[in-house]
Amino acid sequence: NALLSRREGLVLVGYRGTGKSTVGRLLAERSGRPFVDADYEIEARAGRSIRAIFEESGEPAFRDWEERVLREVAEARPGAVLATGGGAILREANRRVLRSFGRVVWLRAEPHILVRRLEADARTRSTRPALTSGGVLDEIADVLAARTPLYEEVAHASVETEGKPAHEIADWILEDW
Ligand code: S3P
Repeated sequence: NALLSRREGLVLVGYRGTGKSTVGRLLAERSGRPFVDADYEIEARAGRSIRAIFEESGEPAFRDWEERVLREVAEARPGAVLATGGGAILREANRRVLRSFGRVVWLRAEPHILVRRLEADARTRSTRPALTSGGVLDEIADVLAARTPLYEEVAHASVETEGKPAHEIADWILEDW
């Protein structure tokens, strides 16, 4: 298996609710690579939840944490499977770090699907900060439209996730890695 002889890592990018953490864990299990969840690393280093960082210090401070942690993780965990937060692609410095870390795969889904998934996910209400003041479908459509060119720019490949179970998505990514 060519996979095991390579040091190239794998990065999952995409909007909230596209399954980055679930698919990432499966990929790590199947490839024998460690799994790193960037949001979790940020919370561990900051000693508070992402929601608390947003509320107490604002989004720019969160983005500074994110940039620092992505750089550190890329340095410390070469070859890992890395799940990023939905906004990790916003800064040019991050896009550069992610691409040099390894293969970048964009998990895609349409806004109406994301609304359903995010509403079904209890974490959305408890830990995920709102990104705009509007309704959830508007927020997703707006934020996604602004981010789409950046996901396109950073990703080597993309997968449409609608209707596909996580293990199928992981299989596809593994074959392609
Ligand atoms: C964000 C997505 C979140 C988290 C933060 C900001 C975003 O990550 O990093 O709340 O800007 O899309 P998930 O995509 O893992 O929910």
